[in-house]
Amino acid sequence: MDIQQIENRINELHELLNAHNYNYYVLDKPSISDFEFDNLLLELNSLEKEHPEFLRPDSPTQRVGGEVTKNFKQVQHTYPMLSLGNTYSEEELTDFDMRIRKTIAEDFEYVCELKFDGVAIGLSYENGRLIQAVTRGDGVQGDDVTSNVKTIKSIPLQLKGDFPQKFEIRGEIFLPHAGFEKMNNDRAEIGEEPFANPRNAASGSLKMQDPKEVARRPLDCFLYFLNGENLPFSSHYENLMKAKEWGFKVSNYMIKCQSLPDVFDFINYWNKARNELSFDIDGIVIKVNDYRHWQQLGFTAKSPRWAIAYKFKAEKLATTLLSIDFQVGRTGTVTPVANLKPILLAGTIVKRASLHNEDFIKNMDIRIGDLVYVEKGGEIIPKVVGVLLDKRPLHTHAFEFIANCPECGSKLQRATGESAWFCQNENECPPQIKGKLTHFIHRKAMNIDSLGEGKIEMLYDNGLVKNAADLYDLTYEQLIGLEKILVSDVEKKQKKLSFQEKTVTNILNGIALSRKVGFERVLFAIGIRYVGETVAKKLALYFHNIENLMAATSEELLNVDEIGIKIAESILSFFKGQKNLLLIQRLKDKGLQFELSSQQMETRSSLLKGKSFVVSGVFEQFSRDEIKTLIEQNSGKNVSSVSSKTDYVLAGENMGPEKRKKAEKLNIPIISEAEFVEMIK
Ligand code: IVH
Repeated sequence: MDIQQIENRINELHELLNAHNYNYYVLDKPSISDFEFDNLLLELNSLEKEHPEFLRPDSPTQRVGGEVTKNFKQVQHTYPMLSLGNTYSEEELTDFDMRIRKTIAEDFEYVCELKFDGVAIGLSYENGRLIQAVTRGDGVQGDDVTSNVKTIKSIPLQLKGDFPQKFEIRGEIFLPHAGFEKMNNDRAEIGEEPFANPRNAASGSLKMQDPKEVARRPLDCFLYFLNGENLPFSSHYENLMKAKEWGFKVSNYMIKCQSLPDVFDFINYWNKARNELSFDIDGIVIKVNDYRHWQQLGFTAKSPRWAIAYKFKAEKLATTLLSIDFQVGRTGTVTPVANLKPILLAGTIVKRASLHNEDFIKNMDIRIGDLVYVEKGGEIIPKVVGVLLDKRPLHTHAFEFIANCPECGSKLQRATGESAWFCQNENECPPQIKGKLTHFIHRKAMNIDSLGEGKIEMLYDNGLVKNAADLYDLTYEQLIGLEKILVSDVEKKQKKLSFQEKTVTNILNGIALSRKVGFERVLFAIGIRYVGETVAKKLALYFHNIENLMAATSEELLNVDEIGIKIAESILSFFKGQKNLLLIQRLKDKGLQFELSSQQMETRSSLLKGKSFVVSGVFEQFSRDEIKTLIEQNSGKNVSSVSSKTDYVLAGENMGPEKRKKAEKLNIPIISEAEFVEMIK
């Protein structure tokens, strides 16, 4: 390709990827498989690396992650909404400080602020009027949620004083604890699921379609960042103080520090005092104050070099362990769950927490009646992390793990080397069946979004489906008017749910459409233990169709990149199961894709057919994973260790010395990245 063709191709890839992204994220209607999307992205990435002059900040490769939701108008951010680098220790923060001091020779100030745990928002003002409110989205574009944001009373619709004609201010929308609790109580009364934490509640509220409903949610907003051409000062703190005068809610808990020890003092103070705040914070943000220094320091791909977030370690509290339940997961894993005396932890009431597995309980000698430490990190389920043995009450008993499945009664098994107990009755045990079905319809699997966990439960409880193939037998007559089987008291208070015409049509259409979903996702959907999304892709690429995969020996499976003995054994055992074979046959008969499409096959070259590579070290143009994908796309094989069967060792910077030695000893050619690129040109 000449230079003009390269530029054209880059532009074309931008358009293609953006269009597919739009279909996926905005319309929620994927137009190509993840596999094909990844191929296009990889192609763009490698062209941009070869020709950095064509790398645009709005390139789809530069997306910072996160997601864009449907139904709101999409708006491009005038200034990309970046995130902050995270640190968790004083050492890491000292490194950050040293990096800055390498660039800035003179004295400077830090501004320390609370890190509010909510939803980021960008507010644009013109002539003192709020004209637009946009969520972070993917950092490049977000949702226009102006009508919802206008309902937040602490956000000024019209400014006062001496403000710039045009600017943007950023902040965090959040729910204070009191509002959050009230909201959850109201929800419980009408039988709705409570929100897990204030952040989820704020995010959910902001995305509601009806602003009147949003207005009922007690949302609030702190502002912490300004963007604009004509800001009054050339430093962050002073501008925020000014913004306060214009009517914005800027936190009072913000200080300027001359030295790192002062920063540590602020952090340590708030690490304790955060419990007294009426809202959640999850750390401290440290920013260099002077904009001239921002210029000097610049940005990394994802975040500014002049600011960092110090994240607090998860909060830990002690409470009484009342009893232990056992939950059976999709793959039959039995997890012990603690029922606790309720405690307020990081803004939410915690009643249940994971106890991990039998060994954890035994090693800690955790007993019913003990005081246990419970920790909550972010949105992860709370977990028990310790026990206060010296507070143990009298007459406790060592804990015994159950021997039979609490759901289906069958005998539990524990494989050597595994920490979990399993219920092996995978085709009869209700949570396993429902879990498998929910996994099957998942967005990243068959993507049947007209079904969800709740509807799957309804179908199963009504005896209509027991496995994935049954979904394809469902009829309109079976579904119309189908009612939810009510079990718990909370459910019995709810309005009786039944499928109406529109729901039924959507369900049936969604199921029918899923027949087009690509082989790699079908392979992920059928739920072979340890075969996740990435492994499924690798298997699909390597074996092309289900017949080849079913016939694969352990040795062949181990040849596939990232597949070790555990995954290989799981695949072999899956295909030995008669029920699994039957399921695959039925799904095939229903028209699901069990081989790569001709288009997918075409994107593969056979330049490296039969050649095996060991990739080692760090490369310039590509990441190691990208190199491995390129090898696979050209029909080559990735192997992890050098042997006489290896054809090439692809060596980057700092390759493993042992590998080099072995390759030299066995006379295996060691090639460079450039030589490799030449091979696949
Ligand atoms: S400054 C370019 N200040 O934390 C830097 N962010 O991981 C702009 N956040 O996306 C962000 N409190 O949603 C800044 N005082 C604060 C903050 C804060 C919370 C959030 C914000 C940002 C994320 C960074």
